[in-house]
Order: sequence, then structure tokens, then C-alpha cells
Amino acid sequence: MKALCWHGKHDIRCDTVPDPQIQHPRDAIIKVTSCAICGSDLHIYDGVIPGMKSGDVVGHETMGEVVEVGSDVKNLRPGDRVVVPFTISCGECFFCKRGFFSGCERSNPNKETAEKLWGHSPAGLFGYSHILGGYPGGQAEYLRVPFADVGPIKVPPSLSDDQVLFLSDIFPTGYMAAENCNIQPGDTIAVWGAGPVGLFAIRSAFMLGADTVIAIDTVPERLALARGAGATTIDFKQEDVYEKIQDLTGGRGADACIDAVGTEADPTASADSIIDRIKVATFMGTDRPHVLRQAIHCCRNFGTVSLVGVYGGFLDKIPMGSAINRGLTFRMAQTPVQHYIAKLLKLVEEGEIDPSFVITHHAALEDGPGMYKTFRDKMDGCVKVVLRPHA
Ligand SMILES: NC(=O)c1ccc[n+]([C@@H]2O[C@H](COP(=O)([O-])OP(=O)(O)OC[C@H]3O[C@@H](n4cnc5c(N)ncnc54)[C@H](O)[C@@H]3O)[C@@H](O)[C@H]2O)c1
Ligand SMILES: [Zn+2]
Ligand SMILES: [Zn+2]
Repeated sequence: MKALCWHGKHDIRCDTVPDPQIQHPRDAIIKVTSCAICGSDLHIYDGVIPGMKSGDVVGHETMGEVVEVGSDVKNLRPGDRVVVPFTISCGECFFCKRGFFSGCERSNPNKETAEKLWGHSPAGLFGYSHILGGYPGGQAEYLRVPFADVGPIKVPPSLSDDQVLFLSDIFPTGYMAAENCNIQPGDTIAVWGAGPVGLFAIRSAFMLGADTVIAIDTVPERLALARGAGATTIDFKQEDVYEKIQDLTGGRGADACIDAVGTEADPTASADSIIDRIKVATFMGTDRPHVLRQAIHCCRNFGTVSLVGVYGGFLDKIPMGSAINRGLTFRMAQTPVQHYIAKLLKLVEEGEIDPSFVITHHAALEDGPGMYKTFRDKMDGCVKVVLRPHA
């Protein structure tokens, strides 16, 4: 089959690789009808995710048609149309039973490596390094889905691929980011990053009752989409983010701040962003946490900082003095997608939200390598790319 494979920094190729096979009775094989490129894939593209090997199949936002099931998969049949969560979860362990699917303690066969880095291992993920299981990803013609009796959700024929694909990741992620803000009537929520995840966080914050949402980015098309969703926008290259949030909140600060940017914040945004860039480039640091610092600074006393932007290692110069003295709450996770997916599918079915609003580009799988660059560089108004491997 054809699949997008990582070969090194800025080197994604559309290769021919062996078709996936059923390896376990709980596996299913999916013929991929649509898959998307995520901001998390850009961290792989940019070479900041350790544990990748040349030839690894990438991608974790995937849906398609079931073509084969293992003998223990009773809930799916060939022909079913499903969306696959990016988190691989057994459904039965301590964490899965509590709804913390992205903490599954049985789905990462390389958990010892993750434990060395992070103390404990999270769940395995599709197409996201050997530290997180080394599972081939879903930017491919076919995908093997482990624990297929737990992850994939069937979707009705009345909804198009573009309307349901993002249930695999970015819609639940944006929703979780907003839910973790514990939104109360009248609240102002500030969202850093108006990329696909930030845009879902903005819409979710309004669905959960926010009065005002402030979106921070610099890309005109993305700020326009944020305004289209009802947000007030700040261009971080034109305005002082802290001063503007102070103005908009009567000098108190935002009730909650969402970091939907993560480790690849714009290196030119501020002096600390430039220093972070130099430290990472010279192996003196692992991450570039400018947005997290600014989110803490802009959050009101006893407010919440909700992180969904991904970080990898050991973050420098985080203002914990500000956080403890002012009673901030921190919430964060790789999204336990299985916890949210049925509820959010219902919102799509009821017409509460049409997730296809973020899509700017459709392309064939062969065009994937070029689309990584287009998406990374935000060229041609690109906000979200959907690939159709069989079109
Ligand atoms: N926690 C999870 O489960 C999960 C799931 C999906 C994605 N993510 C992460 O969410 C983040 C965003 O993903 P995306 O797909 O929207 O990516 P993206 O790269 O398209 O969007 C990031 C946006 O942040 C903006 N930005 C950069 N520097 C900024 C700054 N200093 N202030 C404000 N905005 C700034 C960029 O202009 C861009 O629009 C990534 O880190 C990704 O890895 C996490
Ligand atoms: Zn993702
Ligand atoms: Zn589990």
C-alpha cells in the first residue's frame, strides 16, 4: 500500500510499504477514506519528537471502512464506516476504566522507554514515535487498529467524512481544553493559537457557556476564522497581549487561559521566544514554552491554565511563583478521545457544530509531503489539510 513515511527532519515521503495484517484477535483493518495532518505531526516533521525511525508511517487522524476484523471484535463488521481515536486504549485497565484512555497502561509495548523519560508511560498513539509504541500511523491506504473493540466509533451515512473526521483528535482536544477551564457564566477565556485545535477550543468554550473568548495568533486567515466563531482577536505581533487582555477584562485577567500552541511557538514573538529558540538549537533546552509563560501571566488569580499544546521534555523559566502565589489550577492531557467521542458525535448529528469549518485543503495521499510544508508554513491560507488515499 501507499503511506506517508518519515525519513528525517522535513523529509516525509509517500512510500510503498507492506499492507497491514491482523496480528491480534482484537485488531481490525481499516481502508482509509480520509485522514488529516495535525499540528502534532508538524512536531515530527520538524524533527523535535525523539524516538522516530526512518520509514515510520505517520498520521493519527484517520477514518475509513472496516475491511477485516479479528475473532474477538464483535462490535464491528466489514463495511462499517468508522472514525479512529488517535489514542490506543485497551478499555480494561486501571486508567481506561476511569475514562483516562490516554493513560492506558497496556497499549504501549515500549513503556520502559517512556518511563525513563517521564517517570510513567502514557498510552500508545498511532504514528507517534517508538516511545509511544511504534504503531504505524493512518496517513496510509490501510490502517491496523489495535483494540478495535474499544476505539473506533461508527458514524452515520448522513454525515460526510469532512464532518466527522476530526472526532479522531482535534475536536475532542479543543473540547477538552475548554471543559478543563470549568467555565462559569460570564467567563472570559483566552485561547493562544487559532490553529485547528485553538479554533475548536474557541467554539467549544462558547458551547460550554463562555461569555467572551479572546483568540491570540498572528496569521490573518486564522484570526478571521476565530472572529467568525465569535472571538475577539489579538495579533501578538501587533499588540501587547498582556495589556490587551488586561483592557478586555477590566484589569483582572482572563478567567482561564488555553495554550493551544505548545512547543513550537513562533520564535520571533518575544525576547524569551528567541532565547528558547537558541537554547533548543544548542541542546541547552528541550522546549520553547513562551505561550505557557504568557498564559500564566495573563490568568486571573485562582483561574485555570488549560494546556493542550504539546510539550516534550523539561521546560525552562516557568513562572511557578506567579502560579502558586495566585492560586492557579493547571489542567492538561493528551486527549482521552474515547471519553469524548460519542458525546461529540451527537453534537455533530444534532447540528450544534459542523467540524468541517476548519478545512481549507483537500489532496491525494501522494501530495501529502508537499501538504506538510504548506500546512507548516501556513501558505495559501492553509488551516487544515484532509488527504483522501483512495480518491
Ligand atoms: N493534547 C492533545 O491531545 C493534542 C491533540 C492535537 C494537537 N495537539 C497540539 O495542539 C497544538 C496546536 O495544534 P494545531 O493543529 O492547531 O497546530 P498549528 O501549528 O496549526 O497551530 C498553532 C497556531 O499557534 C500559533 N502561534 C504560534 N506562536 C504563537 C504565539 N506566541 N502566540 C499565539 N499563537 C501562536 C500559530 O500561528 C498557529 O496558528 C500543537 O502543539 C499540537 O501538538 C495536542
Ligand atoms: Zn493530533
Ligand atoms: Zn487501558
